[in-house]
Order: sequence, then structure tokens, then C-alpha cells
Amino acid sequence: MTSTVAAVVVAAGRGERAGGDMPKQYRNVAGEPMIRPALRAFLSHAQVDWVQPVIHPGDESFYRAATADLPELAPPVPGGATRQASVRAGLEALAPRAPSLVLIHDAARPFLSGALIDRAITAGKTTGAAVPGVAVADTVKAIDADAMVAETLDRGRLRIIQTPQVFAFYLILQAHRRAAALGLENFTDDAALAEWAGHRVSVFEGETGNVKVTTNEDFARGEILHLAKLSDVRIGNGFDVHAFADGDHVMLGGVRIAHSRGLGGHSDADVALHALVDAILGALAEGDIGSHFPPTDPQWKGIASERFLAFASERVRARAGMIAHLDVTIVCETPRVAPHRDAMRARIAAIAGIPVARVAVKATTSEKLGFTGRREGIVAMATATLRLPWSAA
Ligand code: CTP
Ligand code: MG
Repeated sequence: MTSTVAAVVVAAGRGERAGGDMPKQYRNVAGEPMIRPALRAFLSHAQVDWVQPVIHPGDESFYRAATADLPELAPPVPGGATRQASVRAGLEALAPRAPSLVLIHDAARPFLSGALIDRAITAGKTTGAAVPGVAVADTVKAIDADAMVAETLDRGRLRIIQTPQVFAFYLILQAHRRAAALGLENFTDDAALAEWAGHRVSVFEGETGNVKVTTNEDFARGEILHLAKLSDVRIGNGFDVHAFADGDHVMLGGVRIAHSRGLGGHSDADVALHALVDAILGALAEGDIGSHFPPTDPQWKGIASERFLAFASERVRARAGMIAHLDVTIVCETPRVAPHRDAMRARIAAIAGIPVARVAVKATTSEKLGFTGRREGIVAMATATLRLPWSAA
């Protein structure tokens, strides 16, 4: 019989301690809804065959919005009033598939790595019940009802326990069923259930970064952790020129501006967007606009330059990076840019998928000097600041 590995990701909690206007698992952490990275970690792991999410009935629209583009995800099943009930719902949903091993993970731990899943599967296959644990750095004391120290614990024997916890599937399913039948609903993790059912549980090395996001403070810490990973800061520059031609408007920064002349070029000749695209591609060291959209290729004729900027922004996301800032300077005598500055910033931000506060549009004349001064064309210069995951390459 082939051995199959399933993962249950529980996300049916209410996130009361975190507050906010939606349950915490759908709030953004590290630039995306918290539930996504955990689901992705299991979906992309070569040894995990099936990923079963458990959500709160009524959260379907949040869930769909957060996960619509994730492939091969099992339809979510409704959770229960306690974490334990939610895990049981996930296990029951898996029962017909009869996996040999199941990993049980909290959606509120978005920072787990593939290496942790590797270790979980190895430990689960070896002992049938295993949990990740990290050593305790602080001294830990037990106190009594009067807040007096009752005992100083031997921290060498203590471990802080995380998820994913891993079990032989039937072992943990039976433990959950027996506890539920007896009305025992207060186990705080699945290992406690396995222990209660008489099984020995082994501990493998956890990850200090695999923290549970519980409070608003944790969200702030999560953001810092994420930014620390995006430590490869890149600056790219872009430059473009288009000559005036016959026409009644120009496209500039994604905005149509009525003008006595148009701009000549193969696409819509949006010189500002072209400079921004080259700045982003420059920071990625992935060629330039011409190498991705050759002017000799008829499919790009007359095309909206928004497409080019959307493409470059997608390349950043494909590298798991973020656009930290976009800055463009437009040089021309006419048209006047200032009245359109905010519309351009809003448009560029929308196309790049970043907040408008991270987009700057500036303009200047060249004091009637040179070809811009003679109103023969428009120049744009741009700078893109990107943050990418650190890599030695
Ligand atoms: N969980 C669940 N069903 C419940 C309660 C919790 O699936 N009835 C899930 C949560 O969504 C979370 C994990 O169990 O992924 C750990 O729970 P916790 O961090 O306590 O999350 P919440 O219960 O949502 O938060 P709070 O206790 O602050 O309300
Ligand atoms: Mg809870």
C-alpha cells in the first residue's frame, strides 16, 4: 500500500485576542492573508498529497478571496466551537481518503518552512506521534495562588510546542472520536489528546520563527520578520524618450491628457510608464522593456503600457519580492503635469499593486533648453526600489 500524507490546516477560530474587523487568519501578514503561506507550504511540499482546510461557517467569502488562486486545495469543511472540534472535523473529512499520516497545523502559524515539514514527516513515520518543540531560553517558574514561586522548573527538560503536529492517521482519529464521545473538549493541542489516549509522543526540533500570531503585536512582529527576509534591497533606474507626433492627447503615467500633440511610438508611448518598467526590470536584472516586448513584434502595436507595468510588477511577485517605492520624473515644457500628478500616482499604484504613498511623480521643464525645451518630445527618468528575498546569487 502506498503511504499517503495529508495535512489539516485549522482556520475556524474567531481571533478574539487579535481583534480587528475580520478574523485574524484573513488579515494581511507579510503582505498577504495569513492563511495563505501555511496552505502554500503544504501544497508545495513534495511529500504532502492532500491539504484539508477547516474554516468557520460564514467566513466563506473571506476564504475564497484569500485562496482563489491556490491550486489543488480540498474544499474547506466547517469547523466547530473549539480548536479540538475543528481538528476533528478536518480528520473526519479525511477519513474516506484514509491517509497513513496526517499533519495538523494552525493557520495562525504562517512562517513554517518546508524543512520543518520534512522533519515532521520523518518523525511521524518513525514514531507515529510527534510534535515540534523548541528549547526554552528563559528561566521558568511555577507559581501558586498567591503569585508566590512554588517551584523553579528545570528548563533543560522543557520545550515550547508548536504545530505541525504529526500522527498516524487512525491513531489521532480514534483519540479524537473517543474524547468527543466522552464530551472531553478542552485539549489545547492534538498531542495532549494522543497522550490522553495512551500514546507516546516524540518531540522533533521546531523553528523559532514558527511563531503563532495571536495579538496585534504579533502582527507587527510578523511584518518585521517578513521584511527581515526581504533583505536584498535593489535600486533600478529607467530612462525613456518619446517624440511628439500628430494627435490630440498624450498618455502619461497611465493617465490620458488632452494636448495639441500626441506622442509617437509603437505602443501608446507612455514614456513615464516605460521608464518605470525599465527601472523595475533593472532592479530585477531581468533585461529591459524591449527584450520582453520587442517593438518589432506586431502584437504590442498600440498596446496600453499598463500591460508592461503589470508584467514587471508580476515579475517582482514571482520572485517573492515587494516593490518598496516607485519614483518617476517627467521632463517637458507642455503639457503641464502638476494637475494630473495625483491621478498618475493613483493609476501607477493600482497597476503595480502597491499603496499610493509608495509612488512619487515629479515634473520639471528643461528651461527651454535641448529637445525637451524645444517641445520636440518628453523624457522620463524613473527609480524603482525593490526588496527581494536574500540569495547569494
Ligand atoms: N481554531 C479553529 N477552530 C476553533 C478555534 C481555533 O480552527 N474553534 C484554529 C484557529 O483558526 C487557529 C488555531 O486554531 O488557526 C489556533 O487557535 P488560536 O490561535 O487561539 O486562534 P483563535 O481561536 O482564532 O484566536 P482567539 O483564541 O484569540 O480567539
Ligand atoms: Mg483560540
